[in-house]
Amino acid sequence: MLISGSGSNLQAFIDACRDPAYPCTVAAVISNRPGVRGLERATAAGIASEVLDHTRFASREEFDAALLARVDAYRPDLVILAGFMRILTPGFVRHYAGRLLNIHPSLLPKYPGLHTHRRALEAGDAEHGATVHFVTADLDGGPPVVQARVAVLPGDDEATLAARVLEHEHLIYPLAARLFAEGRLRLREGRAELDGAALPAHGMAM
Ligand code: GAR
Repeated sequence: MLISGSGSNLQAFIDACRDPAYPCTVAAVISNRPGVRGLERATAAGIASEVLDHTRFASREEFDAALLARVDAYRPDLVILAGFMRILTPGFVRHYAGRLLNIHPSLLPKYPGLHTHRRALEAGDAEHGATVHFVTADLDGGPPVVQARVAVLPGDDEATLAARVLEHEHLIYPLAARLFAEGRLRLREGRAELDGAALPAHGMAM
C-alpha cells in the first residue's frame, strides 16, 4: 500500500485482515513522507514499512523508478493507493496496469484533484462520496469500481463532510480489494468488470 499521511484507509485494511476469511494481506506500506501516522499504524500491525521521500529525488521520473523497484521487491498482486498524494508517471501506471487501485474522495467524474469536500459544499451538492477506481494515465479518471454516496447535511463543513465520507471509504476499499483477490474484479479493455460483466460507468453503488 502506498500512503502519504494518516493511513486510516490502511487501518481499514489492517482491521479487515483480522478476519481469517478476508483474502488479502498487506505485504508492505510505503510512504513518500516521513513521520506520518500511517507508518505508525503499519508498525503497530507488524507490517513492513518504508519511507521513500520524494523530496530527495531530482525528478518525478527518478522517484517513480525508485518507487517501482521498491514495490516490485514485495511482488504484490495488487498495489493500493491509500491517500498517496503524488501524481504517478505514465510508466509507473503502465507497469501496474490492471493491478493498481486508488480511492478518491468524490463521486468521480465530479471533482478530480484536490479540495473535493470544499468543492462539493461550494457547489451546494446534496450528495457527495468516494470512488474506488482502477488507475490509468488519466488523473482520477480510471474506470470506477465502487462508489459510496453520502448525504451532505445542513451545517456540514469540510471537516464533518470529510469524516462522513471517510467512514464509507473504509467500507468500499477493502471490499474492492476482496473482489480483486477473489478474481471477480478485473480491468479489461479499459473497463472494470465484475464476474465477467462490465460495471456501470460509476461502478457499483454502495
Ligand atoms: C482519503 O480521504 C482519500 O480518499 C484521499 O486522502 C485521504 C487519505 O486518508 N485521497 C486523495 O485525495 C487522493 N487524491 P487516509 O490517509 O486516512 O487513508
